[in-house]
Amino acid sequence: MRTEIIKLSGEKDKKNLEKISQTFRRGGLVVFPTETVYGLGANGLDPTACKNIYLAKGRPSDNPLILHIADKGQLKDLVSEIPESAKKCMGAFWPGPLTIIFRKSEKVPLEATGGLDTVAVRMPSHPIAHMILKDAGLPIAAPSANLSGRPSPTMTKHVLEDLSGKVDIIVDGGHTVVGIESTVLDVTVEPPMILRPGKVTLEQLQTVIADVSIDQTVIATDEKTIPKSPGQKYKHYAPKAQAYLFAGNLTNVVKEVNKRVQESCGKKTAVLGTTETIEDYRGMDVLINLGSREDLEEIAANLFDALRQCDEEKVDIIFVEGFELHGMGLSIMNRLLKACGGKVMLGL
Ligand code: TXA
Ligand code: MG
Repeated sequence: MRTEIIKLSGEKDKKNLEKISQTFRRGGLVVFPTETVYGLGANGLDPTACKNIYLAKGRPSDNPLILHIADKGQLKDLVSEIPESAKKCMGAFWPGPLTIIFRKSEKVPLEATGGLDTVAVRMPSHPIAHMILKDAGLPIAAPSANLSGRPSPTMTKHVLEDLSGKVDIIVDGGHTVVGIESTVLDVTVEPPMILRPGKVTLEQLQTVIADVSIDQTVIATDEKTIPKSPGQKYKHYAPKAQAYLFAGNLTNVVKEVNKRVQESCGKKTAVLGTTETIEDYRGMDVLINLGSREDLEEIAANLFDALRQCDEEKVDIIFVEGFELHGMGLSIMNRLLKACGGKVMLGL
């Protein structure tokens, strides 16, 4: 199929909005920007359209999708109950990068939920996403718009690398702001549990609902423990190169990475450092500054770009610095641990 790239010029761009809505209504696939990463959207109430998402991504069929809505009023049709904790979180964080897992209603097809009786719902804050969802008037199922296992796309260029010719339309909205995916919170259990940390942090959630737990596999360094969220058990965010993660005392991290680079002669190596350490690395082929350790939002925004850049440069080995396990640091470490597939050295 030919993939069309569209730039929306605003709410008045009725012609393009109508084209997108029609594509959704006939079961087609539309990639659109959200504040976190680009999403690969289809009508979430159409079982065949949902199946087409899995085909385009090469995604295992038991990994459920998130339904995206334009306003809170759409929620009641999709879920069978709205717990108090969810109401509080929606009040504080919607629209925004928080996905909430509810018990699903009859209306939501099992094709959207990977066969589960729960459904993930999110109301994005990105103005383009909002415009598209509002015009479509449908809950839009949208996983991140990458091939299964690859880093999530933060730019149209990344989407084209993975999905060109596999989707009907890509709506170009420039670079996404957050750069990592939404926080996934399950409110069907008591206390509510974070299944995937994201932009909305544990600490922020605790200011709204005092008691929040966190699935321990979020920061598991081995692949034996089974995560509660189906998606988290698969290989994720992985660049083509083998990536290694080093965390702990920064001086020791730099020393260890420099030693590893030296030992890797004959291989093309990349180091993903930070403003605080970038001058101290030696001998690697590619050096990328993720940003300042004082600004974890910047690091998150640059993370997936950096992993994809290493692929572009055909690097064999990537060495990455780790971060502290709180605030956004936890979300960044969750992605890095998965990108490195267990190749980690913590507590240096
Ligand atoms: O920021 C985001 O969340 C992006 C943008 C496009 O909205 N979407 C995204 O979707 O990251 P995806 O499919 O790549 O990740 C959704 C995660 C997966 O780990 C999936 O297993 C989990 O949410 N999930 C979805 N429904 C679930 C459910 N009913 N129970 C448990 N986990 C669920
Ligand atoms: Mg994804």
